[in-house]
Amino acid sequence: MPGDEGKAAQGHLQIRFLPKKENWAKYVKTSKAVDTIEREINNIDEQGMDFIASDQSCLNWTGDCLVVGLSEESLPLTGILSDLNDKVAGLLQTLIDEEAFEGKAGTTAITRLGLASPIKKIGVVGLGSSDGMTLEDLRRGAAIAARIAQKAKSRSLGISFPVWNNSQSLTAQVLSEGAILALHQDHRFKSEPEKNKVELDQIHLLSFPGEEEALKTAKIVCEGVILARELVAAPPNVVTPDKLAETAADIARDHGLALKILEREQCEALGMGAYLGVAKASELPPKFIHLTYRPEQSSTGATVRKVAMIGKGLTFDSGGLNLKTGGSGIEMMKIDMGGAAAILGAAKAIAQLKPDVEVHFISAATENMVSGHAMRPGDILTASNGKTIEVNNTDAEGRLTLADALVYADKLGVDAIVDLATLTGACVVALGDDIAALFSPDEELSQSLSAAAIVSGEKIWQMPIEDKYFEGLKSVVADMKNTGPRAGGSITAALFLKQFVKETPWAHLDIAGPVWSEKENAYNSPGATGYGVRTLVQWVVGS
Ligand code: BES
Ligand code: MG
Ligand code: ZN
Repeated sequence: MPGDEGKAAQGHLQIRFLPKKENWAKYVKTSKAVDTIEREINNIDEQGMDFIASDQSCLNWTGDCLVVGLSEESLPLTGILSDLNDKVAGLLQTLIDEEAFEGKAGTTAITRLGLASPIKKIGVVGLGSSDGMTLEDLRRGAAIAARIAQKAKSRSLGISFPVWNNSQSLTAQVLSEGAILALHQDHRFKSEPEKNKVELDQIHLLSFPGEEEALKTAKIVCEGVILARELVAAPPNVVTPDKLAETAADIARDHGLALKILEREQCEALGMGAYLGVAKASELPPKFIHLTYRPEQSSTGATVRKVAMIGKGLTFDSGGLNLKTGGSGIEMMKIDMGGAAAILGAAKAIAQLKPDVEVHFISAATENMVSGHAMRPGDILTASNGKTIEVNNTDAEGRLTLADALVYADKLGVDAIVDLATLTGACVVALGDDIAALFSPDEELSQSLSAAAIVSGEKIWQMPIEDKYFEGLKSVVADMKNTGPRAGGSITAALFLKQFVKETPWAHLDIAGPVWSEKENAYNSPGATGYGVRTLVQWVVGS
């Protein structure tokens, strides 16, 4: 990839992120399609920066801004921190005293050092109690460090944080993830660039010598997250089913994955009546996306594990003839392809991290629209496994598209299927904006996904698949209705999906809440979060 190569300097590796806009012309000459290059450059707009795993410590680093991560127990300052305080003429302690800084998680303080100082500013970030400190606490701390340095208009940042549980590499990775994700900003749809913006262009992870691989992993994972964020944030007149298919094609070409796009006729031939019922009202052709990553050669020689991940890919959900009304958030329904965005982001990362696992990435992409061709409330659709569905609500469209995607994935002979979907408002009522619901009849699969989510820092809560509630989906005329009673709405949605999986261990993640955030959090500006990418990658690569 142009501009992507590391370069050795002073015994450590520098990772050069994708080029800044000034360098477009240079890359237009490469063999890549210009639109792909533009897209990539836009994606990583703010990150034309060097990320360095440094053997320097906070005592000998020089630069614009040094940020020290402090747990509650690291106060009062001792050892190297006390030496650092001496080095900055006691101003670190003065800062701590004046701001009554106690190391509480998420708190910060920053001050200017003397004009003769080799470090211009010094900041502190609270990491909370070191007892029970998680990787996510460090990820968030590094994100805050990057944000305060950026706000202080620093060009170079030195991050001096503790190592988690003696895991130097994992710590380096999560610190990098926090900083990269915090600095990502999306100005694609603004006509004017921000004025007088000073950008951070160097971040040094201090006392992490030899951790170049961890930084590279972080960069790859974050590129996947950023792709997902940008797909979700883009409006529905830009990210159409065709655009999702094109994005899959870019990933396939850039990283050597196999790609199958099934057009409407091919889906018809496969009997995908549920998916096509939803697609009928749209002027835009549906695209059934199937990307496959196959490991080159299993390093162990054993048969490789095979998994499938499915993402709900509704590029806009108007509700159909059960039209979403004012106050229902219809204007936000571009986010209804957050599942598809997550699997595409994961595909981009997994293709580069090259695990010994075969991974299928699937999305039945379409829009849910109104027209004279639209499916009617009361229509009966037949899914590709032969089951009949009475559509008693056209706004429960995601499960109709997923039904055929699940039947398709089930035939691939994989060891596990995971679907991610912005499926129900009921899930947001239950768990709020930060937490996804996990439904699975398979305890082992639930455990492995939950364990991955703990490392990735994405919040997941297991919910019951209460078979008795399927009664609410009973239809007088067909095998089932597509919606049940209001109560337990995210559970009946999961039960509906379960009808389309035979024996394969399967899990469903309802990501309607965390796909988007109105608030700024440590490493997320308000907007699309890229939720799911990190957990999916960790689930496949980390296990
Ligand atoms: N895409 C929505 C679910 C959604 C709601 C996602 C809020 C993100 C934020 C889904 O297609 C939908 O409309 N679900 C209905 C189901 C109902 C008709 C049973 C809902 O949740 O209201
Ligand atoms: Mg809907
Ligand atoms: Zn929807």
